[in-house]
Amino acid sequence: PKKIGILTAGGDCPGLNAAIRGVGKTAIVEYGMEVYGFNAGYLGLIENDYIKLSESQLSGILTEGGTILGTSREKPYKMVKKGKTKNPEKPKKIKKTYEKLGLDCVVCIGGNGTMKTANMLAQEGINVIGIPKTIDNDVWGTDVTFGFDSAVQVATEAVDRLHTTANSHQRVMIIEVMGHHAGWLALYSGLAGGGDIILIPEVPYNIRSVCKKIEKRYENKKPYSIVVVAEGIDHPKGKSAAAHIGEAIHTYTEIETRETVLGYVQRGGSPTPMDRILATQYGSYAAQCIADGCFGTMVAMNKNELTTIPLSEVGGNLRLVDEEHPLIVKARRMGVSFGDEYL
Ligand code: F6P
Repeated sequence: PKKIGILTAGGDCPGLNAAIRGVGKTAIVEYGMEVYGFNAGYLGLIENDYIKLSESQLSGILTEGGTILGTSREKPYKMVKKGKTKNPEKPKKIKKTYEKLGLDCVVCIGGNGTMKTANMLAQEGINVIGIPKTIDNDVWGTDVTFGFDSAVQVATEAVDRLHTTANSHQRVMIIEVMGHHAGWLALYSGLAGGGDIILIPEVPYNIRSVCKKIEKRYENKKPYSIVVVAEGIDHPKGKSAAAHIGEAIHTYTEIETRETVLGYVQRGGSPTPMDRILATQYGSYAAQCIADGCFGTMVAMNKNELTTIPLSEVGGNLRLVDEEHPLIVKARRMGVSFGDEYL
């Protein structure tokens, strides 16, 4: 039988176990393959640290958050000296593990960094298939990553809950959600939660414009405001984006502000039904791709159709929010501010 490995790498997110289960069960039940799970991402491949997964070990994990395999931010191709030498030892060890076990393919579940590494392994002759995951929804080449919907749900609930307390105290509430480079989570939770101002890294904001919007709301007898910010918006180091925006708003408007940094609750807990289904589909399709010998690719969703994209086109690229994204255009027309209207 064919032997396959599975690993989960990078920051975790809800749906990883659903994806592992999707790959593993399809591989075992449909194709009679042997399945090995590598512990802690690429570290498991480097250190030959794995467990054989049976069908029963893959049962009962669909709804669990996190990953039964563990994860790490290990980058086997990281330069030893910045911009200079690569350490050849780790890729060599990976090759040794792959050959010793007699693997036919490794399924790498992760975000952009994971896909970049998977592509490098593919170029060294290792059969790999990528599955895109991240709460940031910023993997190039796919319309959606699993983990995103679950994070949107958590962040939206938080925004919802801020409305009542903001109203009671007539305050400006600033809530910071994750997203270093991409504003998808802030955009979606901001819209779903009825945020008044949404600040994302892709749309440069001006604090005067943000304050003007808040003051206008005041004049219109709306004495409180909700500002949803992505962690990656322009702000000074050593302070959170939310703290920076809150202090600036208070300074200019003298209105009371309060900040909430949502943090890791966004990455924890059980996946939403949509994420369970997406991760299951990606996993099952990846097993089919192995059977078809479609290596060096990442499974992806393109206009609601499962497809594959060469890993060489994915690695290193980020899928950011377009400033003219239809959601932004529509939100602006409804009076939602992106912090750049009154320049
Ligand atoms: O999973 C992506 C992400 O959530 C980013 O938005 C965030 O900045 C980063 O991970 C932080 O993760 P960690 O602290 O695990 O490196």
